[in-house]
Amino acid sequence: MDSKNYCRVFTINSSSPITGLLLTWYRAHKRDLPWRRTRDAYAIWVSEVMLQQTQVPTVLPYYERFLRRFPTVRALADAPLDDLLAAWQGLGYYARARNLHAAARLVCERHGCVLPASRAELEALPGIGEYTAGAILSMAYGQDEPSIDVNVARVLARLFDYDQPLTKAAGKKALRAYAAALLPLGRAGEFNQAIMELGATICMARVALCDQCPVAAHCRARALGVQLQRPVAEERRDRTIEQEHVIAVAEQAGRVLIVRRKPDGLLGGLWELPGGEVEPHQDRAQALARHLQAGLRLDAQVAERLAVIKHAYSRFRVTVYVYRCHTSGTPVPANGWDACHWLAADEVDAYGLTGVATRALARVPWAGSGLLL
Ligand code: ADE
Repeated sequence: MDSKNYCRVFTINSSSPITGLLLTWYRAHKRDLPWRRTRDAYAIWVSEVMLQQTQVPTVLPYYERFLRRFPTVRALADAPLDDLLAAWQGLGYYARARNLHAAARLVCERHGCVLPASRAELEALPGIGEYTAGAILSMAYGQDEPSIDVNVARVLARLFDYDQPLTKAAGKKALRAYAAALLPLGRAGEFNQAIMELGATICMARVALCDQCPVAAHCRARALGVQLQRPVAEERRDRTIEQEHVIAVAEQAGRVLIVRRKPDGLLGGLWELPGGEVEPHQDRAQALARHLQAGLRLDAQVAERLAVIKHAYSRFRVTVYVYRCHTSGTPVPANGWDACHWLAADEVDAYGLTGVATRALARVPWAGSGLLL
């Protein structure tokens, strides 16, 4: 069947043959994903937030568990942030979870716990930008809105051979124009899913399976053999920053001390083992004792090293030295922490822990519900 026939079948009101070809391909090849079986704006919102920086296979078990635990905007708004962070643990990019929570509360305050159906009101909510708003409006509310995530941006940059970085204002404007040219009125939600799916499964960042692509014949970058050079890479930022941290496994009565980071900033609201940065020339044990004194008012004797963990964040990398510590007295959180807790072995899954804390605790010799040190 040629592209004209495809257009006739769908009565597409976009003038590009690409639109019909993509929709036909999508109907035949789409993965059966739970958020594609619903028009519930809340469920679609949750899926899009989870998918923002995370791949589909990782998201799936979290998504289903999350919706069972928080089935409505109200359930999410009424839950303590700690519960939400615990459900999010392991998905990473925790600002997404904090924003989701803050936004759910605002949706209840401002919109009677129903996600609004206007772009301006959606984008006024924390964590909802142009792309997520477009996804909710098109997929849940059937509006003719584009939704341009990184997959879609890559596909569009290749189809139209856009030869500048996409990060500048001109790049964003070009993407909007391309998307508008392809968007079929009345079917935008399905079309947005289709082009996302093409980017996720065929037109991938490092591999382009052009021989399986339904729109290869219309792809300008492919015609020029430059598909893997599109989108054009942005100039590299500063070199990755390297840091060294020292953290404590401070034990009392078989429990380990964890502390909660203040809500704002990197990893805000998550629980971690107490400690902090150390300069390469400093004595690590002394630096750790100072962090425990300054941040918790605790006198600590630092004992043996239990582990060295290397951990990468998006902008920097840390090497974390984990020490066993003896402390006495009651910790009083200060500086960057706002709560503390003596954690038992069977409570590890109940707290939203940072990746480093999870990895450090996995190296701690727990036995039964107590700590074996
Ligand atoms: N990535 C971002 N949004 C997505 C969606 N709705 N389906 C699959 N992958 C996605």
